[in-house]
Amino acid sequence: MTALPSPALVIDRARMTANIDRMSRAMRDAGVALRPHFKTSKMIEVARLQSEAGAVGFTCATPEEADALLTAGFADLFWAHGPVGAKATLAAEFNRRGRVAIGVDSVELAEPVSREAARLGVTVPVRLEIDTGLGRTGIRASDAVVVATALAGLPNLEFEGVYTHEGQLAGVSGDRAAIRAAGVSAAEALVAVAEDIRASGLPVSVVSVGSTPGWDSAPTVAGVTEARPGTYVFSDANQLRLESTTLDQCALTVRASVVSVQRPGAVIIDAGLKAMSADGSNRGSTFGLLLTPEFELDDTVEFPTAYEEHGTLVGRGIADLRVGDSVALLPNHACGVVNMWGTVHVLDEDGAVQTWHPVGRH
Ligand SMILES: Cc1ncc(COP(=O)(O)O)c(C=O)c1O
Repeated sequence: MTALPSPALVIDRARMTANIDRMSRAMRDAGVALRPHFKTSKMIEVARLQSEAGAVGFTCATPEEADALLTAGFADLFWAHGPVGAKATLAAEFNRRGRVAIGVDSVELAEPVSREAARLGVTVPVRLEIDTGLGRTGIRASDAVVVATALAGLPNLEFEGVYTHEGQLAGVSGDRAAIRAAGVSAAEALVAVAEDIRASGLPVSVVSVGSTPGWDSAPTVAGVTEARPGTYVFSDANQLRLESTTLDQCALTVRASVVSVQRPGAVIIDAGLKAMSADGSNRGSTFGLLLTPEFELDDTVEFPTAYEEHGTLVGRGIADLRVGDSVALLPNHACGVVNMWGTVHVLDEDGAVQTWHPVGRH
């Protein structure tokens, strides 16, 4: 096997491919289009595999992601982030290169895009974001008909439907059944909004849900047409707690080495915030979960402190660790971690290693 640098961000290719195939199958069975969120992988190689497995296109969060996908030939995109300021011009320009729908939750966000689209002589598809409980962006269901009607009246925009990010599922206390129930009710609320808009006389062709915790609930609701999970492609420690994945489906690890054992009761590794990201854990205060050499969770070791390039491991299990020893860590949140790395090592079952490079990091 090619030696990995330390630290290294490693993808288990077989697990990632299985995740891609499983999600594609599930969405096919649910009868909805799969439009994975690209912010998780930020890698064109991963997008190609998702596309080959049946993804209809991609969701993205940043103009850099949209640009990279368009350049790679993926021409059917949903840019699910308010195109504020100069991004209005980009939204119009992208539609010279492909079909790039924008997501908005107000007429104010859409008007500049409409003007830029008219200037460039393009039509920009537009989706209205509905807040089904996350409390981030998105309008209340009761305001949807008025705003959808106003959007449909703007020149050079094509109102195509509604969407929600049911991210509130990550905060549901309770078991998997409670998370599934919350996914179903978020999707039902979205479908009801689509029905209201249709009843007002506007066609609604897209009813789009999207999250990994809700992958097996929201897309199964009658009337949903599309799902946009992202994190599923690698999964992570937070998804494990939410039981949207199993440990043997987690495809992304940070490999690090012990660099110091000078502090009593602690060992220091060469992976800190810039390797693990600052994303929090839904299991208390940890920067990641240590894995045994057999890839089981090692609950004898904790990772409570991270500096920029140093991490502190504590707990009974550190007694055997020596300077130079390797450790594998499961990150809290895959998407934030990938964004930290310029190079990712992709590990095959036969030990072969390839290097891939995330795009549009910031
Ligand atoms: C608009 C939107 N759609 C889809 C997703 C994908 O959700 P997840 O990361 O749970 O897969 C996100 C995640 O932040 C999002 O913001």
